[in-house]
Amino acid sequence: MSLTIAIDGPSGSGKSSVSREVARRLGLAYLDTGAMYRAATWWCVRNGMDLDDQPGVAGLVEHIPLVMVTDPQAPTVHVDGVDVADAIRDSAISTAVSAVATNLVVRAELQARQRAVIAGEAVGGFSGGQGVVAEGRDITTVVAPDADVRILLVASEDARLARRARDVHGTDDAASVDATRDQVLRRDADDSTVSQFHVAADGVVTIDSSDLDLEQTVQAVLSVVQRVVGAS
Ligand code: DC
Repeated sequence: MSLTIAIDGPSGSGKSSVSREVARRLGLAYLDTGAMYRAATWWCVRNGMDLDDQPGVAGLVEHIPLVMVTDPQAPTVHVDGVDVADAIRDSAISTAVSAVATNLVVRAELQARQRAVIAGEAVGGFSGGQGVVAEGRDITTVVAPDADVRILLVASEDARLARRARDVHGTDDAASVDATRDQVLRRDADDSTVSQFHVAADGVVTIDSSDLDLEQTVQAVLSVVQRVVGAS
């Protein structure tokens, strides 16, 4: 049986680390769809595209030579043969990505590619075969509404800001949290205009990770998977 696990959530909810670890433990492929929007942004910047030029951005992204390597042990992203895994985490990309991710033509293109990966048609460099854990903002609702397991991972604003500050600045002291605040909250507000990821859709299980560490959150996800798979 091929298993599809869809996990959505806002910035700092911990969904990337949790999804990757769940995929690793279950032997599934891991698809980070946020990395696809980041890679599209990188490609537009690389090509000198004005990100406010919506038709220009859409035209470029429709033909992006993007390969998602979905091995959870070493996930990465190639654009035109270049490994961009580090470059797409740059703060310039983090600041710019919402402009690309709210472009509806870009979304349609990347959603189609995400569905192809989930269907096992385009799993770059990893023959998962057993299925996939796909994470993002609209996986439970738009990309894979029929997934076997659908989870919304949420966390309080304080917990999300502290996590993002630790990721980006290595500490969650007051100055680092403040430096993170605008990016996290503004980006989520912008992204909320095209995806609904703060409230669980029908049939989606909510897990609140505010007071859970990584291992506890992974266990919470695995127990939902167990319940669903056990019942089928
Ligand atoms: O999760 P992340 O920070 O890597 O996501 C990067 C951007 O892409 C962020 O602005 C949200 C957006 N995104 C989206 O709109 N839909 C998804 N399925 C995944 C990410």
